[in-house]
Amino acid sequence: MELSDTQFHILINFVMSFVGFYLCFNIIPKFKDVFMRADLFGADLSKRVQNKIPEAQGVICGAVFLIIMFLFIPVPFYKHLSDTVSDTFPYNEYIEYIAALLSICCMIFLGFADDVLDLKWRHKLLLPTMASLPLLMVYFANFNSTTIIVPKPFRSLFGFDLDLGILYYIYMGMLAVFCTNAINIYSGINGLESGQSLIIAISVVVFNFLELTGDQSEAHVFSIYFMLPYIAVCSALLYYNWYPSQVFVGDTFCYFSGMTFAVVAILGHFSKTMLLFFIPQVINFVYSTPQLFHLIPCPRHRLPRYDPGTDKIGMSFTKFKYKDLHILAKFFIQVCRKLSLLEVKENVGEDKEYMECNNLTFINLLLKFLGPLHEKTTVTILLAIQGYCSLVAFLIRYQVARLFYN
Ligand code: UD1
Ligand code: MG
Repeated sequence: MELSDTQFHILINFVMSFVGFYLCFNIIPKFKDVFMRADLFGADLSKRVQNKIPEAQGVICGAVFLIIMFLFIPVPFYKHLSDTVSDTFPYNEYIEYIAALLSICCMIFLGFADDVLDLKWRHKLLLPTMASLPLLMVYFANFNSTTIIVPKPFRSLFGFDLDLGILYYIYMGMLAVFCTNAINIYSGINGLESGQSLIIAISVVVFNFLELTGDQSEAHVFSIYFMLPYIAVCSALLYYNWYPSQVFVGDTFCYFSGMTFAVVAILGHFSKTMLLFFIPQVINFVYSTPQLFHLIPCPRHRLPRYDPGTDKIGMSFTKFKYKDLHILAKFFIQVCRKLSLLEVKENVGEDKEYMECNNLTFINLLLKFLGPLHEKTTVTILLAIQGYCSLVAFLIRYQVARLFYN
């Protein structure tokens, strides 16, 4: 059987990814001391002895990923490079690679800055927006297609298609902000950040391979070229980040991952499908909004509370005076309480004036129904949910979407 050019390029990418895995797997343990000496460590909060663990290991993954990608770039273009006669070099495609890597590189740098400098939340929103600009510029230069197909039920209102213009660019910029932060705030137990990212990446690759014979095959090949090396470095990191963690991934990794997903979704034209792979992150984000917008006090850490007696983790709580809350927060608390989505303790504190409710994370919500659980059990269940949501995403993408689109 003879391989097509594309199959051959994917094979080379696969082999290079394997080398990437090998490099990360070997480098991460060797650099532990270097990170500790540079004061890049965090306490493992859900343990009896809160050991100092090297943090920001995403920077190693990001660096290896970039090296693999830089070495790989000539591969899809080598035929054009040796052809000096005809002027057929696909500059459009080439510039997509460069811009994609520029955005990812920017985000790794900004993530590392966050790990070192502990940036404020407003920076966490601004930075991904800035890093996505090169990408949006290329999208503008290469496609500038801002027209969407309207779902069937709304066609009587808007017609068959709708040109969103600048709104489409705002949407893509927001996608980058969402992907980076959604992973970062769905975290706090060993293995969760790297585990969720790995499952999302595998789901994306499966989707890309399913679409290889479709009319957007080039876009999906582009995505595979980025996702295979990503999966490689991410798996090596998960090995060391799994319970009990030997290393922490840091914000560098969350930003690197989020941006890589945003890049392939935007340039691969499958942002809606990408969002389907983020179902648990979307739930966590929506549930978190009252704390993210400071309607309900948001402590520095919202991770579950560890009980050294049982070695299990349970819900963590935030404390406030109910009467001081914004009306929207009061509404949120009452509705969630009715729906049993919130654990509330009234009349707490010395003067019984305070109220406590669980920190608004999906992890705490799970622990409300199943907890307290051991940390490893919790992360295993959360990752199983992530995998299950990917199956649901495929079902929606291939079955339910037919009801809305031709
Ligand atoms: C985000 C969350 C925060 C959560 C934190 C933990 C929001 C708004 N912010 O903040 O609630 O507590 O991530 O990742 O939701 N850590 C562990 N075990 C782990 C992973 C992390 O104990 O498995 C601790 C370590 O002390 C580590 C620190 O969390 O040093 C990392 O936190 P950081 O990434 O700086 O927190 P944020 O991303 O700002
Ligand atoms: Mg973080």
